[in-house]
Amino acid sequence: MFPMNAWYVACTPDELVEGRPLGRRICGERMVFYRNAQGEVCALEDFCPHRGAPLSLGRVCQGELVCGYHGLVMGCDGRTLSMPGQRVERFAPIRRFAVQERHGFVWVWPGDADRADAAQLPDFEWSGNPEWAHGGGMYHIACDYRLMIDNLMDLTHETYVHATSIGQSEIDETPCETHREGDRVITQRHMAGIQAPPFWQMAMRMNGMDPDQPVDRWQICRFSPPSHVMIDVGVALAGRGGFHAPLEAKTAATVVDFITPEADGSIWYFWGMARRFRPGDAELTARIREGQGRIFAEDREMLERQQLNLQTWPQRRLMTLNIDAGGAHARRILDRLVAAERGEAAAAAA
Ligand code: FES
Ligand SMILES: [Fe+2]
Repeated sequence: MFPMNAWYVACTPDELVEGRPLGRRICGERMVFYRNAQGEVCALEDFCPHRGAPLSLGRVCQGELVCGYHGLVMGCDGRTLSMPGQRVERFAPIRRFAVQERHGFVWVWPGDADRADAAQLPDFEWSGNPEWAHGGGMYHIACDYRLMIDNLMDLTHETYVHATSIGQSEIDETPCETHREGDRVITQRHMAGIQAPPFWQMAMRMNGMDPDQPVDRWQICRFSPPSHVMIDVGVALAGRGGFHAPLEAKTAATVVDFITPEADGSIWYFWGMARRFRPGDAELTARIREGQGRIFAEDREMLERQQLNLQTWPQRRLMTLNIDAGGAHARRILDRLVAAERGEAAAAAA
């Protein structure tokens, strides 16, 4: 259960390899993505109207999608253009999905394409901004998308899951504060006068700061529907204002998380980090990406095993503690959005 009338990240542009369509299931819908002759990304049902073969097993020839079974040529609007030796006027059209390319990602709207509104795509300070650099990757994870939202909205887990990189005992010892701003949820924690953990010591060193200096550290997790979590993270020399410290006194970044449900129980997790120091340093981008990839692989193991447990014991009641408030608020917002969509669907069917 996830909102369908919303923008999700479908893939990164480098996944759209010339000549080869990309098949991906998103929010339960089997889709095929490719670039047409104009270079625009198209998203269609992954279903050939001839015999039901997945179009993603075909190829892209001069911007046209060709079924790999008997050569049907599909148009970007879901209508068959041609097929060797056949008349195609009466072929049933297939579904088209609304798609946009923005912020270095391809976005798809799995619900009603006519309701897709590009103005609802989120904006990010780091996107297209030469003062920032962004790098990241993608993991397929066998867990409910809300488990990943819980994980990112509750960073106390860093102390345990990521003990050797970003974890430290001060995280547990510092209470977090959670509040809502409309359909957004913000959970934050500010730690004062601490020693930076290994990942941040590395980042400070690369940013020309002395990694042994005491720092103020912050984590500000921002959820927005359907499943985006941006986390402002960083360290500043102690007493210089923390998150609000001047640029030269801090090493700051935003953890960028786009969580796309594949179906119930699995996700495409697009993770990354946008940083505001040494943006031109590609080697640093690669190094951060590698460290972050290792950290998120630790989450992957935990979440997949947690999902299995929840499936094994579906009747078990879970606890919701103060540290779980961010995820709990996000779930309430998602429940409401999904219920509204179901209500609309029921009213339309009546
Ligand atoms: S199944 Fe696609 S052309 Fe036959
Ligand atoms: Fe984590």
